[in-house]
Amino acid sequence: MTSTMNQVDAVQRARNSLYDRFASRISVKESLSRKLVSYQGNKEAPGLRWMKYKEGFSASLVQSLLSQHQAKTFLDPFSGTGTAPLTASCMGMDSAGIEIMPVGNLSARAIVAAANGLNYTNFHYTSQELIASLASKEFETDQLFQHIPITERAFPEQTEQDLAKARKFVDDVCDPSLKTLLTLACVSVLEEVSYTRKDGQFLRWDPRSGRKVSKRWQKAELPTLAQALQRRLGEIMNDMPELQRKYRNAAPTLVDGSSLTELRNLPDESFDAVVTSPPYANRYDYTRTYALELVYLGYDANRLKELRQDLLSATVENKSKRELLLREYGRAPILQHAFQMTDNQSALQEALCVLKQEAHNLSNRNVISLVANYFTEMALVVSELARIVSPGGSVFMINDNVRYHGQEIPVDLILSDFAEQSGLQCEAIWTLNRGKGNSSQQMGRFGRQELRKCVYFWRKCGG
Ligand SMILES: C[S@@+](CC[C@H](N)C(=O)[O-])C[C@H]1O[C@@H](n2cnc3c(N)ncnc32)[C@H](O)[C@@H]1O
Repeated sequence: MTSTMNQVDAVQRARNSLYDRFASRISVKESLSRKLVSYQGNKEAPGLRWMKYKEGFSASLVQSLLSQHQAKTFLDPFSGTGTAPLTASCMGMDSAGIEIMPVGNLSARAIVAAANGLNYTNFHYTSQELIASLASKEFETDQLFQHIPITERAFPEQTEQDLAKARKFVDDVCDPSLKTLLTLACVSVLEEVSYTRKDGQFLRWDPRSGRKVSKRWQKAELPTLAQALQRRLGEIMNDMPELQRKYRNAAPTLVDGSSLTELRNLPDESFDAVVTSPPYANRYDYTRTYALELVYLGYDANRLKELRQDLLSATVENKSKRELLLREYGRAPILQHAFQMTDNQSALQEALCVLKQEAHNLSNRNVISLVANYFTEMALVVSELARIVSPGGSVFMINDNVRYHGQEIPVDLILSDFAEQSGLQCEAIWTLNRGKGNSSQQMGRFGRQELRKCVYFWRKCGG
């Protein structure tokens, strides 16, 4: 028994020692609820409730993290639907977000459009016209949904035709704010009117789609496009007065692109605060989950594959971006620093070494490259954040630890180590309270039962 424990300790030595280094800064924060750190908290929030972006966190979380800090400028380099930059804007900050998925920035821009200058009566009138246009029997075949293999048969035939009519109607709208809102309305109901459900790693399919599906699962009766749109447009109308009160004059800068290339364009010490949640290292594929929305927005199979590669590596399909980063950054010291941190991070290398030894037992060997790629890219992101945050500035990061083949990857500790090697001080790692009898110490040591879900708080010295 003791010798087995010694063996277990031996393969975890570097991770245990990293845990010991940070142990006094890890604590359970009672106020962090699952609702607060997830999209759940936005379910009732005006504007943020339109697009069900389940990967998001709540505006209340951002507000509570930022309320203690005197920040004037704000950045979220993985801004999704804009929860953080919009909230920071509301709090009077000059804010910015970077997001690679067009679904995210579309949603944020729709909220900004609804709050600023959109004519309420005009919106109401045009919405009614849009719904009325769906009653027509005519549709243009060149407006039909351009399916790719992973979206084929997602909609009943009538819905396919209605989507073509809606697209034609929205295409012909000239006012850019109105067009943005109507596009968002259409995109936001695609899941609801389809035979699919976003479910963990993949889309779940209802057998009525005619696809071969192993599990018998059925959605309730699907609404027609007109019914679903009517509801969403009504919600938008309802939210508008509150949005205008909340977000009027809030105009976050929303960058469409990858943080892996965009962060380097930002000046040193230009942001006082960052609240962000990068993709987790958990194989989750945004391009599969949001395939319907991406295709509606004009993505074909090739562009979707390219987007998958451009996203921060978190799937087994992602290839190394080292060469791409070398092309972007050349011999810039910050990139060399990121590579060195990754290659020399002993807890990470220890976990990778065990996974390589166990490669033949892994359900997918590419999890090894997933983990290596994830940390290489995050090392660069963390280094860039350390550069662009002003002295005394704060970085809050929301992320989950992961486990592959029984090997815990302590994402919180590894990223906090990168932060400290890059000039940020790790002030705290707050974990969610996940049940009785699990002190944070136990959670760290015996991570087999509990994987930490955390908010990290890093601060730049000075200021
Ligand atoms: C956990 S979600 C954050 C959601 C956001 N906090 C919200 O409330 O909507 C991570 C986001 O990172 C985005 N992302 C992935 N790779 C990226 C990259 N290279 N550059 C910028 N954004 C990226 C994903 O599309 C996703 O929206």
